[in-house]
Amino acid sequence: MTYADAQKKLAAVSQEQLLRFYDQLTDGERATLLQQIDRTDFSVIDNFFHHEKLDGKGRTEPIGGLRLADIEMRKEEFRAAGKAAIRAGKVGAVLLAGGQGTRLGFDGPKGAFDIGVTKHLYIFEQQVKNLLEVVEECGAYVPLYIMTSDLNHDATVAFWQAHGYFSYPAEYVRFFVQEMAPAVDGKGKALLAEKGKIALSPNGNGGWLSSMRKCGLLEDVSRRGIEWLNAYAVDNVLQRIADPVFVGATILSGCNCGAKVVCKSGPQERVGVLCLEDGKPNIIEYYEMSEEMANLRDEKGDLVYLYGVILNYLFNVRKAVSVLGSKIPVHVVEKKVQYVDEAGNIVVPSAPNAYKFETLILDMVRLMDTCLPFEVVREKEFAPVKNATGTDSVQTARALLEKNGVEL
Ligand code: UTP
Repeated sequence: MTYADAQKKLAAVSQEQLLRFYDQLTDGERATLLQQIDRTDFSVIDNFFHHEKLDGKGRTEPIGGLRLADIEMRKEEFRAAGKAAIRAGKVGAVLLAGGQGTRLGFDGPKGAFDIGVTKHLYIFEQQVKNLLEVVEECGAYVPLYIMTSDLNHDATVAFWQAHGYFSYPAEYVRFFVQEMAPAVDGKGKALLAEKGKIALSPNGNGGWLSSMRKCGLLEDVSRRGIEWLNAYAVDNVLQRIADPVFVGATILSGCNCGAKVVCKSGPQERVGVLCLEDGKPNIIEYYEMSEEMANLRDEKGDLVYLYGVILNYLFNVRKAVSVLGSKIPVHVVEKKVQYVDEAGNIVVPSAPNAYKFETLILDMVRLMDTCLPFEVVREKEFAPVKNATGTDSVQTARALLEKNGVEL
């Protein structure tokens, strides 16, 4: 792209400030900036000005799902179906590890965080250990696709290599890189991270399947005969991956996807809630839920909107690929973003100062038309590492790991 082309592209979206320091750049920096401008989709910024209404689109109702007692009764039937699918190579896993983990404040990929106390135990390592239990139970490896972003790709791959893939065979592990989106200030102007570099952030975890397609991995999925993909977050150290009972229950339910859920600990718990909207599965984020809805109880005294999602979903590949072109909402998220001010000084903010644009995997569930909520025991499967201290932190996750017999 030439300078004139860049000017034209930016003028069309009122983002000419990105060329403010062009005269001060070296030839190499100029080329990098022009390439970034060429590759960046600025149309996402429209969402800053025209907030899509993300909730209350239709009639909301509770969704029926499998509670622990239901699962217990049919456990062996589900397990047999899940094991058969895994043995037949029909199940793959997708680790969503492209996030920035800003709340944890760890300088590196979140999965490289050492949760150990007396010995090293990295988050990636603990998750692979969990997956290896399934491999052993089923006698087959589960192909693992790992999503990274431009910001952590090299570090993530190097970390896996340095640790011998945590004993998982390398031929079953593939990495792919998600897309980035510009971050804007309070006026909707894209920020510069350096004089010659746009401030770009990973564009959320909702684009994992389209990123897999762009990176050519859907061919790998189809070549291997994978029919189900289990997408999960890097930041739950008790994550059960390709859990045969969950896989079997979802397949036997005839639903296009399954979601592991925990029963909300109370009306105020900050988790997305799985429900039905106009007859389709839908996840309402805790901040989008009215007080009334959050507090609604049935005749037994249970919360009506009970199922909190833990970012562990099983998607039918054929259905998911068929809805790939469908639009999902772009969420505008307030974050701390380092930037260059008008005078050319680098500013390191101490409070959120910018807005990022993210699509979320939870919005994909609606497109799947049908979803099976599958309850799991919170203390056994949900130990999120979001913050350095306090709720959902390194301390709480360590305590839960120990409760589950993991030596730290
Ligand atoms: P979070 O919503 O906790 O975001 O991600 P984050 O970026 O990791 O953390 P904060 O908000 O900056 O502290 C939930 C899961 O989705 C993945 C994360 O890696 C995590 O597994 N994710 C998030 C992506 O893969 N890509 C993204 O763009 C965002």
